[in-house]
Amino acid sequence: MQEQEQLRFAQRYGPWAFVAGGSEGIGRSFAEQLAARGLDLILTARRQAPLDEVAAAVSRTYGVRVSTHALDLTAPDLGARAAAIVGEREVGMLVYNAGATHGAGFLVDDELDKALGLVRLNCIGPLTLVHLLGSRMKERGRGGIILMSSLSALAGGGYVATYAATKSFDKVLAEGLWWELGASGVDVLGLLAGATTTPAMERSSVRFDRSDVPEANAAVQTLGIVPMSSGDVAREALEQLGQGPVWIAGERNRATAERIAATPRAEAVRLMSEASARLHGLAIPERRRR
Ligand SMILES: NC(=O)c1ccc[n+]([C@@H]2O[C@H](COP(=O)([O-])OP(=O)(O)OC[C@H]3O[C@@H](n4cnc5c(N)ncnc54)[C@H](OP(=O)(O)O)[C@@H]3O)[C@@H](O)[C@H]2O)c1
Repeated sequence: MQEQEQLRFAQRYGPWAFVAGGSEGIGRSFAEQLAARGLDLILTARRQAPLDEVAAAVSRTYGVRVSTHALDLTAPDLGARAAAIVGEREVGMLVYNAGATHGAGFLVDDELDKALGLVRLNCIGPLTLVHLLGSRMKERGRGGIILMSSLSALAGGGYVATYAATKSFDKVLAEGLWWELGASGVDVLGLLAGATTTPAMERSSVRFDRSDVPEANAAVQTLGIVPMSSGDVAREALEQLGQGPVWIAGERNRATAERIAATPRAEAVRLMSEASARLHGLAIPERRRR
């Protein structure tokens, strides 16, 4: 990145960036790329050790200040905890990254608490941090906010119904905030990632290459799924910040989104649901077959 461009970025979005879920995967890539642009970092996640490992690597490479904090984004007192972490520091950039689903199942067959946890993580968490940090950005007349959404936001999906709904919330929230805060010089972006290789994804039951389940590979092909790297997802987002309310990372994912939009709704939901089932190695109930 050119020196002058980097300076402009830091003046617009610095001095501190708050990355919620910044210890691995896409969040870690955001941390690295924001540091490369000269921003100091506040990194949070539930586990302290991986955060500290990122902090050591990033401050060694880029010479920025990094502070790390164990913080569960589903905590009922999230707002107070985040406010205490930030203190008087001027946060010009918020990346709300955490939010993947780590399992799949029918809503009514699973513990209600799991679904409520996703709502806290993907809806209440972003609302709380945007309210806390976005209000200060608005006062200053500058800043940037990136909310992580997903291709799952584009249509309801069985087996991940709550996850898809919360990601849709994030997308639509970002769109409205883009309009509300844009007038005050604060850029907001809803980032829709498709399949991305991350440690969390690797720990989950999702497999993008299921040679054991031939139908899974067919589903992957139908939706054109080719996992991206977390670095590419973060890079596209930072390049697109300020260009519009929503960005879909990856050319293939953008083509998939266009296909979903052009597909009759019931068919789109069926496709998304069957793809989820296949990727998680789950059965498609007979009665649901067309
Ligand atoms: N990977 C994909 O294929 C994919 C596809 C579409 C969209 N996305 C979106 O991209 C984002 C990142 O996904 P990811 O795959 O990297 O997994 P992720 O689990 O959403 O993110 C991992 C990061 O978030 C932290 N984290 C997770 N749950 C947390 C909680 N309750 N409180 C605080 N921190 C938490 C993790 O650290 P700790 O575990 O230590 O807390 C880690 O730093 C998510 O919003 C996801 O929906 C991912």
